[in-house]
Amino acid sequence: MRLILEVWRQDGPAAEGRFETHEITDATPEMSLLELLDRLNHELADRDIDPVAFESDCREGICGTCGVDVNGVPHGSEDNVPACGQHARSFSDGQTVRFAPFRAKAFPVLRDLIVDRTGLDRIIQAGGTVAVDAGTAPDADTLQVTHDAAERALDFAACIGCGACVSACPNGAAYLFTGAKLAHLALIPHGRQERAKRARSMVAQMEHEFGPCSQIGECALACPAEIPLTAVATINRERIRAALRRKAN
Ligand code: FES
Repeated sequence: MRLILEVWRQDGPAAEGRFETHEITDATPEMSLLELLDRLNHELADRDIDPVAFESDCREGICGTCGVDVNGVPHGSEDNVPACGQHARSFSDGQTVRFAPFRAKAFPVLRDLIVDRTGLDRIIQAGGTVAVDAGTAPDADTLQVTHDAAERALDFAACIGCGACVSACPNGAAYLFTGAKLAHLALIPHGRQERAKRARSMVAQMEHEFGPCSQIGECALACPAEIPLTAVATINRERIRAALRRKAN
């Protein structure tokens, strides 16, 4: 099948960007969107043109590296699927596929389709870990975690940190991402000791770099890990809970 690829090209963070148009005449329906870019890069390399810079790693929906906007939608038109899992068959023969970097003030473009998503790492560094000395690992059946709590914690732990939620949000908010991390750790026993301190520091870091939430819900629609919108509500619940606690833990 034939597809027209419009691809954002930008030589560096301070350079001016522009869309370049290329044609792929031998795409197959089962090609992933990243394989379309691979195909394009082979052609560019044959013509001694710099390949399009984009990120990928696992290419099976696990790592969250492949963040890119496709026809204005984070990851592409299929709901809750990362770009590496979306395919050329979503487009008709001759259609235009426009690849652009994730758009958010907190995600400056580094080159072409690659953006700097380390703002999300800084939210994790602010408290998205468990630092208490928990001793040796207890027997699994001594941990008092209900099946329901374990399932809900796993739902929130599924976040792959791709940043699609931020790009989908008109405000560039990271509420879904941060809420998923807070909810996950609040539901399991070893995450509870630092719960209030974690909420204060992660929310402060989030607000320092990312926009406010208007509760539009685009974040959850774009999320390839299907993080529920209740993660957004977790932010205020954990923030209020932390404010009501006098101890700094
Ligand atoms: S490359 Fe890992 S999720 Fe897409």
